[in-house]
Amino acid sequence: MPGAVMIGLHNVTKNFADTQVIRDFSLDIFQGEFVTLLGASGSGKTTILRMIAGFEDVTEGRVTIDGVDMTTVPANLRPVNSVFQNYALFPHLNVLDNVAFGLRIKKVPDHLIRQRVHDALSMVGLENFSARRIRQLSGGQQQRVAIARAIINRPKVLLLDEPLSALDLKLRKEMQLELKRLHRELGITFVYVTHDQEEAMSMSDRIGVLANGQLLQYASPEELYANPATPAVASFIGETNLLEGVLVDIVNGHAIVQTPHFLTKVPTDKTHVVGSSVVLSIRPEAIRLGHFEGNPICRGTITERVFAGSQIRIWVRINDELTMQCLVHGTRNDEFSIGEEVDLAWEPNRSLTFSQSTNTPVVSDLLGSNGSDGR
Ligand SMILES: Nc1ncnc2c1ncn2[C@@H]1O[C@H](COP(=O)(O)OP(=O)(O)OP(=O)(O)O)[C@@H](O)[C@H]1O
Ligand SMILES: [Mg+2]
Repeated sequence: MPGAVMIGLHNVTKNFADTQVIRDFSLDIFQGEFVTLLGASGSGKTTILRMIAGFEDVTEGRVTIDGVDMTTVPANLRPVNSVFQNYALFPHLNVLDNVAFGLRIKKVPDHLIRQRVHDALSMVGLENFSARRIRQLSGGQQQRVAIARAIINRPKVLLLDEPLSALDLKLRKEMQLELKRLHRELGITFVYVTHDQEEAMSMSDRIGVLANGQLLQYASPEELYANPATPAVASFIGETNLLEGVLVDIVNGHAIVQTPHFLTKVPTDKTHVVGSSVVLSIRPEAIRLGHFEGNPICRGTITERVFAGSQIRIWVRINDELTMQCLVHGTRNDEFSIGEEVDLAWEPNRSLTFSQSTNTPVVSDLLGSNGSDGR
């Protein structure tokens, strides 16, 4: 990503009363970038956005926008605008008056307002709706009005907090494309908040993954998927099977990991130490299922299968203790049935390991919740 830093968060913390909800949070967002903050409910996404907007003070640290320290600058003097989940439109005003609201307050002359409202509504495909009342619009149209209102004074940064979460899936997908187009056409910086990893993956240049007010990893969608920094990121970005094991040997560039149910190989890295505990991550789509000539890595019984068009999702129970989730492509619907015994294998370079020591609490939580704990 070229260009200057548009938004800088420098060691930001935030306390509400005695509770620290954002911890030592640092992040740079470049001019023109589309960055998404992704995290579970309560992880601190909205709080970060509100601190960028100036609706919330930072307890410690600094916020810069376009090279200027904004830490103590009030919201109305920051070159940013926001779109929220609930749109916050005025129901008693028509579309034109909603979009024009900010310009009227700034006493922009009427003929200029009309032109700019027209331009903003055109950007979101609502140029013929200016006389409509808000309550005569669909949810998607209301969201477009909210976006038009937010871009009308050409902010340097647009902050979007779960703007599509009230829409149904089809409309949501349409609006995702529309927001991407708007981002390209406006050329401004977008900071987007969602808890939907698919939405984050499909829209963003970079994603910041949050948990408990901390930034776990900040990277491109491809990088997060291929090289998640922690098991928490691996399970948040796409799906994965996480299981605990011990690194028992290093042979010819491969580490051998013993789990309670099988032995498997992973490419070694410099963190690997023989005898240490590791967490293994194996993506469902990396697993081959079938009846193999050679030795499988393990063998199990199919307990569940869900047909999903071009793919079948299959759950395989191993030794009655561990369930592995697998994703099989282009398979006929009569292949793999519940109760069938199957072999499982994967290439060493399709699995990842994380050293246990630094991640133990998070890992235990995750293992408990996805059923892959092998206990
Ligand atoms: N005004 C407030 N007073 C006290 N605690 C707050 C306040 N606003 C947020 N919090 C707390 O801060 C934490 C982060 O909240 P935040 O709204 O930023 O989460 P979020 O990631 O946006 O979640 P969601 O996905 O549910 O919107 C939560 O534990 C929340 O309860
Ligand atoms: Mg929120």
